[in-house]
Amino acid sequence: MGLLKDKTIIVTGAGGNIGQAYCEGFLTEGANVLAADLSDISDTVQSWGAGDRVKAFRANVLEQDDCDAMAKAAFDTFGRIDGIVNNAGFFKSASFGSFMDIAPDEWDLCYQVNVRGTWQCCRAVYPYMKTQGAGRIINISSNTPYKGIPNFLHYVSSKMAIVGLSRALAREIGGDGIIVNSLCPDLIPDDDIIERQGTAANERTVSERCIKRTQLPEDMVGAAVFLLSDMSGFITGQSLLVNGGAHFN
Ligand SMILES: NC(=O)c1ccc[n+]([C@@H]2O[C@H](COP(=O)([O-])OP(=O)(O)OC[C@H]3O[C@@H](n4cnc5c(N)ncnc54)[C@H](O)[C@@H]3O)[C@@H](O)[C@H]2O)c1
Repeated sequence: MGLLKDKTIIVTGAGGNIGQAYCEGFLTEGANVLAADLSDISDTVQSWGAGDRVKAFRANVLEQDDCDAMAKAAFDTFGRIDGIVNNAGFFKSASFGSFMDIAPDEWDLCYQVNVRGTWQCCRAVYPYMKTQGAGRIINISSNTPYKGIPNFLHYVSSKMAIVGLSRALAREIGGDGIIVNSLCPDLIPDDDIIERQGTAANERTVSERCIKRTQLPEDMVGAAVFLLSDMSGFITGQSLLVNGGAHFN
């Protein structure tokens, strides 16, 4: 359809299932994509068959220098930076259990990747977007803080921090023509998640939705494309819950 034709979008955490779905969806919509991840994802990126419109880049969002190099690579390769999806996250390694028992180091790592990493990526792209007088930032939050999922306090609270960060940043840089929103997926289980949680958590989650099926990575793509496209130019500081109509009981 070309809703993102010739726009340059950075996706962090692009090697995960959801990150890959964003990248492939944006490429289908005509974007150039810089697919960034902690790991080398060159082979994955090549398998998308998008040629020069996509570039793999290794970056650890915990390192500001990496984030800056990522933004520079996107600009140097494609000539501009229209959007970023801050999708890299500390999720699958986060342990479940009482808030009394979360290891302080794990608490800190969770906040560092999810909150500080997001902030650092926003810092990296801002100078380019400011110069352009336009840009879109999507920060990936989660449905978990809206549900108040228990026994996962570090992750859940870090994802609500993303909502606050996005709302405040939207006000701070709205005058520069930059739009900031957050997207909140519900549980999108893959093999790793099923192995850790079994199938019961997903079955319960499905039963608590208006749309009674498992959420797929592809379910996130339309909302992201919309928030990166020219169709959403008056929407900022918002959090969009893409959750099949989860009811919070
Ligand atoms: N899967 C779900 O059910 C779900 C639900 C709600 C929100 N989310 C959020 O969606 C995002 C993607 O989740 P996912 O399930 O695809 O996770 P995932 O673990 O499959 O993928 C995350 C990717 O981020 C990368 N990454 C991790 N730390 C990084 C770092 N320091 N620097 C750069 N890259 C790093 C990993 O290499 C990985 O490729 C996360 O922010 C997660 O919190 C996921």
